[in-house]
Amino acid sequence: MSEFNELYMEVILDHNKNPRNKGVIDDHTNHADGHNPLCGDKISLDLIIAEDTVKDIKFTGSGCAISTASSSLLTEYIVGKKTSEIRHLFEEFHDLVTTDKSNTENLGKLSVFEGVKQYPARVKCATLAWHTLIAAIDGDEEVSTE
Ligand code: FES
Repeated sequence: MSEFNELYMEVILDHNKNPRNKGVIDDHTNHADGHNPLCGDKISLDLIIAEDTVKDIKFTGSGCAISTASSSLLTEYIVGKKTSEIRHLFEEFHDLVTTDKSNTENLGKLSVFEGVKQYPARVKCATLAWHTLIAAIDGDEEVSTE
């Protein structure tokens, strides 16, 4: 296994086993439920957004290892970021997992998901949390990957 794939596996397994920011925020300002109808996996996000910046975020739900790890890493990474920046990061993340023109400069630890590119069927697992996040920012309560 290459060094990169080892890192990918290590990060996915760690965040799947010990997901960060799991739970609910009772006084959230934004919320969305995301659903992947192909497998039935669901995640829900609660956020506190103030001054156009994510102040806090938590997630609940059940999903595969990749969707759980993606939710966990995402929630760690976006606290303190402006919503406009998050939209831009999603575009970069989507390119990372679907194309060869990826630019990992702004993605930090999230760049380990580059490994997903080799498994197109898992792209929706890696992006479920992102679609849900954008829906929550836009004020949409529900989103599906289909
Ligand atoms: Fe359902 Fe990954 S198999 S989100």
